[in-house]
Amino acid sequence: MQFSSLFFSLVLATAVVAKGDKNSTSTSTKAVTDKSLCKEMTSLNQLVKLASNTTKLADKTKNNATKIADIQSMASEASTKLTTMSSNTTLMSTCAVIDAAAKTDDECQSMKSLQKLISLAGNDTALADKAKNNQTKIDAIKTMATKAQTKLDAMTSNTTLTTACDSIKSSKASKNGTKDAAASASSAATSASSTAKAKSAGTMLNAKVGLISSFVLVAAGMMML
Ligand SMILES: *[C@@H]1O[C@H](CO)[C@@H](O)[C@H](O)[C@H]1NC(C)=O
Ligand SMILES: *[C@@H]1O[C@H](CO)[C@@H](O)[C@H](O)[C@H]1NC(C)=O
Ligand SMILES: *[C@@H]1O[C@H](CO)[C@@H](O)[C@H](O)[C@H]1NC(C)=O
Ligand SMILES: *[C@@H]1O[C@H](CO)[C@@H](O)[C@H](O)[C@H]1NC(C)=O
Ligand SMILES: *[C@@H]1O[C@H](CO)[C@@H](O)[C@H](O)[C@H]1NC(C)=O
Ligand SMILES: *[C@@H]1O[C@H](CO)[C@@H](O)[C@H](O)[C@H]1NC(C)=O
Ligand SMILES: *[C@@H]1O[C@H](CO)[C@@H](O)[C@H](O)[C@H]1NC(C)=O
Ligand SMILES: *[C@@H]1O[C@H](CO)[C@@H](O)[C@H](O)[C@H]1NC(C)=O
Repeated sequence: MQFSSLFFSLVLATAVVAKGDKNSTSTSTKAVTDKSLCKEMTSLNQLVKLASNTTKLADKTKNNATKIADIQSMASEASTKLTTMSSNTTLMSTCAVIDAAAKTDDECQSMKSLQKLISLAGNDTALADKAKNNQTKIDAIKTMATKAQTKLDAMTSNTTLTTACDSIKSSKASKNGTKDAAASASSAATSASSTAKAKSAGTMLNAKVGLISSFVLVAAGMMML
């Protein structure tokens, strides 16, 4: 349900708020990091934005006045908290750095997806297998791969980006074992929206072409952005 998913994010937001308010000793399990503060700001911002959109609010709460009042009261607190947090310029610039890192991480992942799609299109055996020998699908993948190559070339020509990706890769390799978990955890929050967007664009394409491969979908989605 829409409301329950909304509530889940509110609970998350308030959980972070609570954590921030407590003594560092009582929350010895997990220190409040800049990253968690930046994440908290994102949640608080979303809450304030929701509360200010009466259409959306009515929709999410099915026009329940009690729920609307609850959200508005939470948003009012969130707004106060945001004002305080925003006044910390150190934190604001740290968040800008964290957000940029997450964006770079997303771009590196996209390059990998594009490369996979290109490799697939270049391997007749793998392609026939993936497309179950359906020529329409084979052609569609090849067309996508051509676009993917253009996009990848543009990204690869950005040495800032490729250098950043290399360093992310080696830092992940050194944090061995949990590489995938670490990778997804670090970028999950900020990449969630862009990945979702890429995936949904990809899903549209999937409906048309009938592919069932997440990397193809993400790559395809990327190209439709
Ligand atoms: C908890 O925080 C309060 C006020 O911020 C402080 O006076 C108190 O000493 C702290 N308690 C501990 C155990 O650190
Ligand atoms: C409010 O929410 C509605 C529905 O979710 C959306 O279409 C609209 O663009 C939003 N308005 C503003 C000002 O963000
Ligand atoms: C509105 O929401 C409140 C709190 O969640 C709930 O107790 C109440 O039953 C709801 N009212 C209606 C009319 O659904
Ligand atoms: C501002 O934020 C930084 C980074 O999170 C923190 O170390 C510092 O204590 C904060 N300053 C104030 C005045 O709250
Ligand atoms: C092409 O794909 C097949 C099946 O997935 C694989 O066994 C083969 O090694 C690939 N060939 C090349 C040149 O990558
Ligand atoms: C190159 O990539 C970096 C990191 O993602 C980005 O900040 C920068 O804007 C890109 N440069 C160009 C010319 O696209
Ligand atoms: C990384 O992990 C693999 C097994 O997952 C292991 O074989 C390898 O030795 C590890 N490398 C380093 C540098 O720890
Ligand atoms: C091949 O794929 C296309 C596009 O997904 C589909 O419309 C068509 O029915 C498929 N053909 C066969 C023979 O399965």
